[in-house]
Amino acid sequence: MDLTFRKADEGDCALILEFIKGLAEYERMADQVVATEELLREWIFEKKKAEVIFPCADGKEVGFALFFHNFSTFLGRAGLYLEDLFVLPEYRGLGIGKATLKELARVAVERGCGRFEWWCLDWNQPSIHFYKRLGAVPMDEWTTYRVTGEALKELAE
Ligand code: COA
Repeated sequence: MDLTFRKADEGDCALILEFIKGLAEYERMADQVVATEELLREWIFEKKKAEVIFPCADGKEVGFALFFHNFSTFLGRAGLYLEDLFVLPEYRGLGIGKATLKELARVAVERGCGRFEWWCLDWNQPSIHFYKRLGAVPMDEWTTYRVTGEALKELAE
């Protein structure tokens, strides 16, 4: 198998959405996906708030990784935050996920980032195993907080 990486462009919004839905189904959160091709086009490619790469097996896109930059004040530099990593079920276990994380680690190092990080659902044991094998460390003492929907509007008033 010839594995390459391709940076997504504006013409890829339908494919990105398909992969987002595939990941959401795996994570049992398909009902929470309200993203549309138009929204992805606006936020990823016009406002440039995220970047996407596709691992390609013999030229065919077989998964995706969506990432953007966060910032560490302690390190005084940007980090690379991985929002989504997904490999099509029939292509798992072939080294594609690992190669994709290595490609993103390369981007992080090339851009001088101090960290490369992501969240993972506690029940997603296969992924936890996968990440630990790659040298990632769980941030057990941290809790993620989120304000959204009505609570966000209320807070903004
Ligand atoms: N259980 C145990 N180990 C696993 C594993 C599993 N289910 N899947 C992968 N690994 C190990 C492999 O043995 C390999 O180790 P090695 O390098 O020592 O041989 C390493 O992890 C890399 O495996 P790889 O073949 O590159 O993984 P992949 O291409 O299947 O991609 C995911 C991994 C997690 C991206 C992919 O399985 C996936 O898309 N899962 C569903 C979506 C998901 O969970 N995304 C992450 C959300 S946080």
